[in-house]
Amino acid sequence: MDIEKIRNNTLGCNQVVHFNNAGSSLPPNCVTETVVNYLKEEGQNGGYESFEKELPRLEYVYDQVSGLINAEREEIALMESATVAWNSIFYSLDWKKGRVVLTGQTEYASNFISYLKLKKERGIIIEVLPQSEEGDVCLKALEARLQKGGVTLISLSHIPTNGGLIQPVSKIGLLAQKYKVLFLLDACQSVGQCPIDVQKIQCDFLTATGRKYLRGPRGTGFLYVKKKHFSWLKPFTLDLYSANLTSKETYEIRKDARMFETWESSPALRLGLGKACDYAQKQDISKTFERIQKLGHTLRKELEKVEDCLVHDIGKEKGGIVSFSLKGKNPIKVKEELSKRKVNTSVSYKTSTFWDMEERGLGDILRASVHYYNTEEEILSFINILKCLP
Ligand SMILES: Cc1ncc(COP(=O)(O)O)c(C=O)c1O
Repeated sequence: MDIEKIRNNTLGCNQVVHFNNAGSSLPPNCVTETVVNYLKEEGQNGGYESFEKELPRLEYVYDQVSGLINAEREEIALMESATVAWNSIFYSLDWKKGRVVLTGQTEYASNFISYLKLKKERGIIIEVLPQSEEGDVCLKALEARLQKGGVTLISLSHIPTNGGLIQPVSKIGLLAQKYKVLFLLDACQSVGQCPIDVQKIQCDFLTATGRKYLRGPRGTGFLYVKKKHFSWLKPFTLDLYSANLTSKETYEIRKDARMFETWESSPALRLGLGKACDYAQKQDISKTFERIQKLGHTLRKELEKVEDCLVHDIGKEKGGIVSFSLKGKNPIKVKEELSKRKVNTSVSYKTSTFWDMEERGLGDILRASVHYYNTEEEILSFINILKCLP
């Protein structure tokens, strides 16, 4: 990998040390240019006129996104965020009293709020799976639970927002298939970070964002829906794009994943997302993932040497999200001090992964998330800055 070239093609790399890739990463210049150029075109020609002219390129985005995760183009719906994608599928399932959703301890708060909402409103049952000693989902416990029966959905974050943990999703997918239980994977932090192949994972649905490890623009996301589910799924909202009036009294729903889209969207952002998918694949995600893991490992090792620093990451396999705290220091203040010194980090709030933080006795913690375009030199300079903070 030519890291220098990659960094030269990323405007932000010579402005800041960007360790907030789990928030929103630095896009490559070609992604920004794609978005800006399309907006200029709209300014010159009109929104609908540009859309018509660029339709082939806009349609191609479905190929770019599906290619990234080894899906088919008709299995992709383009969305404005991971949450919109996730809500679209979760709330479209047939939730009735007593139906069970299995999830993990490190589940993202927005997803958990939806489980609780449907528990309150429809009487669904939420079961949080036990963890192995290392902190990932305990596969034995999962299989034992699936054997008992009565589970509607396994719904899990592949990589949580609050640390390096990578869940063993292919093994979970295998069990979901064996026991014929639907599997919804929140791949918000993993798309672009590690290779994702929906055929290998065997998930039924997958949701993701463009702005994090994929290096796409903000305001983008997507939903993958396995083709075999098109016939029975009923989106919880419809419009004149996802459905067609066939008479004064009847309508027909689209027969592809776009049944979850609505008419209006940002073509500029969609093109940016497509460009980011191409860019990620061109770098070879298995190689970039190796580098992310190596940098994550180095960062953890270096943090462990800092006095009064505690690293909080769990899991057998870890990625580029590193979570830590400095004894006696307020994480928000530390983040602000780092920002003044042109180092971008973030705070992972207790409420974002409440169940996990509560179980582990953690409050708000610091999060430094590295991408392949970061360097060991940046890590060492970050550590030096951290040691000298007031
Ligand atoms: C694991 C996980 N799921 C979902 C989301 C929500 O993504 P979005 O903000 O694009 O809706 C996040 C955002 O941080 C996340 O970390």
